[in-house]
Amino acid sequence: MKPDHGRPRNRLDPKSNVAPSGPADQSDPQNDMKKGSPVSRSGRFSDGPSADVAQFSQSISYDWRLWQQDILGSIAHAMMLKEIGVLTAKELRAIKKGLEQIAAEILRGEFPWKLELEDVHMNIEAELTRRVPAGAKLHTGRSRNDQVALDVRMWLRDEIHELEPEIRSLQASLVALGDRFSDVVIPGYTHLQRAQPVYLAHHLLAYVEMLERDRTRIEDCAWRLNVCPLGSGAIAGSTLPLDRGLVARLLGFTDEKGNPRLTQNSMDAVSDRDFMIEFCSLSALLAVHLSRLSEDLILWVSSEFNFIKISDAYTTGSSLMPQKKNPDIAELTRGKSGRVIGNLVSLLTLLKGLPMSYNRDLQEDKERLFDTVETVRACVRLMDGMLRHTSIVRPSCAAAAADPALLATDLADYLVLKGMPFRQAHHVVGAVVAHAERTGKPLDKVSLAEFQAIDPRFSGDVMKIFNLDRAMARRQLPGAPGTKEVRRQLARWRKTLSNS
Ligand code: ARG
Repeated sequence: MKPDHGRPRNRLDPKSNVAPSGPADQSDPQNDMKKGSPVSRSGRFSDGPSADVAQFSQSISYDWRLWQQDILGSIAHAMMLKEIGVLTAKELRAIKKGLEQIAAEILRGEFPWKLELEDVHMNIEAELTRRVPAGAKLHTGRSRNDQVALDVRMWLRDEIHELEPEIRSLQASLVALGDRFSDVVIPGYTHLQRAQPVYLAHHLLAYVEMLERDRTRIEDCAWRLNVCPLGSGAIAGSTLPLDRGLVARLLGFTDEKGNPRLTQNSMDAVSDRDFMIEFCSLSALLAVHLSRLSEDLILWVSSEFNFIKISDAYTTGSSLMPQKKNPDIAELTRGKSGRVIGNLVSLLTLLKGLPMSYNRDLQEDKERLFDTVETVRACVRLMDGMLRHTSIVRPSCAAAAADPALLATDLADYLVLKGMPFRQAHHVVGAVVAHAERTGKPLDKVSLAEFQAIDPRFSGDVMKIFNLDRAMARRQLPGAPGTKEVRRQLARWRKTLSNS
């Protein structure tokens, strides 16, 4: 196993889907502490913490997720220690081999995680040192403060690497649905009131645009976080001649020219959680977008709209009402946006009162980040799958889109083209609408004589306004839901997505 060179991927076994679990039993935190663990805070402390304190302090129950990054970071650090003469070649080989064995055991679920060793860093280092005496040299010039900053950056970099194509796939399923039903027109809504007709594809492409902004924000975040903090020590670097550039290169913290990207202030490096907040913030927005999409789907699947059918695999029945088919996946996606937003607020609150530099409070950051990543990735994947199992109910869409009131604005535009100021045209059409309501007629059943009684500038061609095909063809502006423009946008997205 070698640390990556320049590649922002750090999985030890990219083929493996095994999700190793964390410590199985956290109930006996005292076991090894009395014996004095190989990486205990020996010397200064005469006694280990009580079981209650150990339980309160531990992070291993969740930060075990960082094990791959922790091991890769340690190998790179050890390689550098050998280069600067702290480790012999033999010691480096032994450390690498020991860490590889530990990695294999973790993958197999056989690693003896110990709660009393607090976190993933101590667990791995202690076990290594128990097996390999040279392990005691591994922490040279390193602190858990810069180690955890490194591990989380690498972990998030990996997750982002997997999230991006998942977002792409969701965009593709929105485009595919729009493509499959590219002739379907529905009412567009403002204030949840019927406004003007739009192609269904146009509505779906609105979400593709939102997701594209989310995706590019993620790319930005990935760039900013890809800076190596190792070598910052606990707060003030080290007096040892560490080669920070080498470690950064080994772990893929490089720019496009292959130059190492290093944090530039050791105090900032060990206490900076901006990259987590940035990720949680863009995730909150992504989750809000998914929540809005969910809300649309929930409305559309209701009997009142009946625009779509979601396949059974993505809905559930009611335990009481036999006729029910509930859009649970969409509802859960809408609901889960709440916790993603909450995670962002938690992190901001966690940080806001902290003096420089590392404070133990920061250990509380990881669960919020892990939960955010897991939640948004699941929401994106499930929404993608659900849309691929969703179809459109053409007759209901056609019936809704046939409402002639959707073309009242087109009627005002008609008068504008005859030279009437828009404000006046708006007023005249308002009078037509009121007349139609009074006489109980749809707008397109108002006679020419009635139109002309309201304003003489209406002429025989006014009835053409209510031809929906014509109305859709006339929306030609860039970004408008016109027939040609929507086709162009679908083609643009198909191309963009097939090139990515
Ligand atoms: N488990 C710790 C965390 O998540 C690692 C760093 C601990 N550093 C320390 N000085 N206690 O933040």
